[in-house]
Amino acid sequence: MKVECSNCNKEYKIPDEKLPVGKKCAVQCPACKNRIVIDLRSQPKQKQSLQPSKPVEKEKPTVSYAKKRPSGMSLKYGILRSLGDLPAMPHIVQKAQDIIANPDSNLNELSRLIEIEQAIATRVLKLANSSYYGLSGKVFSVQHASVLLGYKTLGELITVAGISSLMGRNLKGYDLSSEDLWRHSIAVAVGSRIIASRKDAEFGNEAFFAGLVHDAGKLVLDQHIYERKDDFETFMGNGQHTFLSAEKEILGFDHSEIAFELCQKWQIPSNQSVAVQFHHYPSKSQGNELAYILHMADCIAMMNGYGAGQDSMMYQMEEGTLEFLALQDKDVDDIQSQILESVEKMSQEMPAG
Ligand SMILES: [Fe+2]
Ligand SMILES: [Fe+2]
Repeated sequence: MKVECSNCNKEYKIPDEKLPVGKKCAVQCPACKNRIVIDLRSQPKQKQSLQPSKPVEKEKPTVSYAKKRPSGMSLKYGILRSLGDLPAMPHIVQKAQDIIANPDSNLNELSRLIEIEQAIATRVLKLANSSYYGLSGKVFSVQHASVLLGYKTLGELITVAGISSLMGRNLKGYDLSSEDLWRHSIAVAVGSRIIASRKDAEFGNEAFFAGLVHDAGKLVLDQHIYERKDDFETFMGNGQHTFLSAEKEILGFDHSEIAFELCQKWQIPSNQSVAVQFHHYPSKSQGNELAYILHMADCIAMMNGYGAGQDSMMYQMEEGTLEFLALQDKDVDDIQSQILESVEKMSQEMPAG
């Protein structure tokens, strides 16, 4: 199918098998990053597009990459040896997570935490006033927000505000603006919460946090990808490979493996760390439910134009994901529209950085 970007008027051809029959979806324009909405609802609905038919990967080009640069285990060990140089989790986020996890903690502890962090307090207030949290324009102080929202939600606002400086970065290797990565992280966090909360609200909070950091490995790999940009462009050149497979092929490992190491460094609980590690291959997670949830939210986010790269339309949900989560096709539609609505509400008031 041919689609045209309404912003820059460039035309693209998207293989029909990648489009969700009978649904509305969106892709990101590779040239200007505009969100192109494609409405296929007038088409007869035959099958759930998020369910894979066949793996996307096709045959690999017979090109040998710049082997002079380290790859595989030697590169990975090099990265892990300098763990101290890896991005740090903002201190305030760790404190907020500790306070939320402690059943004996209270609102005052959280309020005190942000009193001394004016930049975070300003962000928290903006977020509290977003339509996502339902207090549009009514809150003028953090104390007031905490009374209206409760300390768990305030803890979440602090977490989101703190992580936005970590996940809202420009990644030149991935060709992602800070806005792109942040909106993708928010979309996956919100989507993960929506899916997990169907089971349990507490699980929803855990899923939200894992969703925010699921692609943190990209922060670390970006520089190494940038140094090998030519190799990535050659491998991706025929339009048949995902960026994820290019990471594997050229570096020898992918961002989800490095994200796991970051989660370890940040002392994120093991259920969330393992889920982040397997967010692209949940069937390898030995039944980690959160890995399936992150994977599903990631696919829905990409399918709806909140991707983390120009190849977002090429990712497909791993077979068996819906079955594992005991969800039906109609649940996917429902979850999809909730994600779209929530992301718009939240990200309007929450720019990256
Ligand atoms: Fe990812
Ligand atoms: Fe992702």
